[in-house]
Amino acid sequence: MAITQTPRDADARPAFLNGAPKRMLIDGRWVEAASGKTFPSLNPATGEELTRVAEGEREDIERAVAAARKAFEGPWSKAKPYDRQALLLRFADLVEAHFDELALLDTLDMGAPITRTRGLRLRVLGMLRYYAGMATAIHGETIENSLPGEYVSFTLREPVGVVGAIIPWNAPLASVTWKIGPVLATGCTMVLKPAEEAPLTALRLGELLLEAGLPAGVVNIVPGYGETAGAALAQHPDVDKVAFTGSHVTGQKIVEASAGNLKRVSLELGGKSPDVVFADADLETAVPGAAMAVFTNSGQVCCAGTRLFVESKIYDEFVERVAAFGNRLKLGPGVDPEVQVGPLVSEQQLARVTEYLEQGKHEGARAISGGVRARDGELARGYFVPPTVFADVQDTMSIAREEIFGPVLSAMRFQDIDEVVRRANATPFGLGSGVWTWDVSKAHRVAKAIRAGSVWVNCYQVLDPAVPFGGYKMSGYGREGGLQHLEEYLNVKAVWIKTA
Ligand code: NAI
Ligand code: MG
Repeated sequence: MAITQTPRDADARPAFLNGAPKRMLIDGRWVEAASGKTFPSLNPATGEELTRVAEGEREDIERAVAAARKAFEGPWSKAKPYDRQALLLRFADLVEAHFDELALLDTLDMGAPITRTRGLRLRVLGMLRYYAGMATAIHGETIENSLPGEYVSFTLREPVGVVGAIIPWNAPLASVTWKIGPVLATGCTMVLKPAEEAPLTALRLGELLLEAGLPAGVVNIVPGYGETAGAALAQHPDVDKVAFTGSHVTGQKIVEASAGNLKRVSLELGGKSPDVVFADADLETAVPGAAMAVFTNSGQVCCAGTRLFVESKIYDEFVERVAAFGNRLKLGPGVDPEVQVGPLVSEQQLARVTEYLEQGKHEGARAISGGVRARDGELARGYFVPPTVFADVQDTMSIAREEIFGPVLSAMRFQDIDEVVRRANATPFGLGSGVWTWDVSKAHRVAKAIRAGSVWVNCYQVLDPAVPFGGYKMSGYGREGGLQHLEEYLNVKAVWIKTA
């Protein structure tokens, strides 16, 4: 494993981080928390405080929801599709102009390598411009009915109302834009609660939204902790819909909290995604593909391919090669442009992942690479875990069943296609999945049989704004991306007119 001790870019510090604690955005203005409280946002590569941030709680959520309601019923409700499109396009241009700064904020706040955060440029800008296009493509239908007499029946597609968006820390820039796009395209308003571990990029995006001409209250941003600010938003009786991305445990709490006013909920949760490699696969692409399916973003990816099933006759060679690939990845602070694997987001996440490493060994799996926290030199200050490959994993082990959210691969051996499909599906989750083979019939059979929202054949984690993404089973419901995503933010109203 190569280790970087002296990041070249280490001194880079966006001006946004200087000065007083960051405030929250409510009704078009930057305000302090009602309690006056703030919390620190840390750099996980060093453990240092980047800045402090206003700590929103129930009272701040109340103010933000009231502002979002007022905006929903105010002039924003009269905005034409073209106006909403123009706003999204101006915002996209500003995000593009400030992209490197935004990517650096993500890197500093949650640790991902700068090459990854900058690499999301196409996806983030594509997302905003896709939804900008959609703003003028929303329409109802005229439906022929069979009633006796003369009636005209047609539908209107109307914005669902005030949206509470709660997002995790693993890719703030992409997560925020994935929530803003459909909100603005459909004419909803929003209260966004970023994750406490990485709230900064969301707040900088709030500044850019105002610069783009966002009307007051259309998007409000209230940073704070999950149990306080998040819970208040999920329970709020004047929120019409919650769009949640995060763990399935919190997803369950969101569903319970939604019962009070039966608000709509969409859930993009985690998984334990299978990645299946057949012996006929092109190993030159399957080895790095299977490795990066789980080592990207230090494994802090909802659809990470964490269960690697390899056909028996190539198992030993393949697993060794994936481990060797992982060992060659450069571990270090994300600001270094040569780093490929950054730290985990927090001390808590580090504790969680290292606990799984110990459990894996205890249960009899064999760590053929990584397996312990990296502490060499400056790495000791941050929350670093090297790419880890466990071989000899049994399906029943906790490392094969539970979401770890770290750079940890559990490798298992299989003999035939029916067996591997059955084992791949033997999980309560169903978000991503991968298949590596040149055999077109195997590719089709597995793609059809896997119970997951996405199947990637000879690739992994490929996403596009126009293609729906989401879960089966306990990975959640609702889709992000594509036409279906907009439906989550729309109500359908049927109108009947008796014409004779
Ligand atoms: P989390 O699901 O608790 O946090 C995600 C968001 O939900 C944050 O904004 C948080 O403040 C908020 N939240 C927490 N409790 C809430 C509540 N009671 N009501 C409303 N909002 C609440 O995830 P956390 O604690 O950051 O990470 C723990 C584990 O969850 C990870 O190790 C990973 O396994 C999983 N996870 C999965 C993600 C995914 O995209 N699949 C994303 C983040 C975490
Ligand atoms: Mg942070």
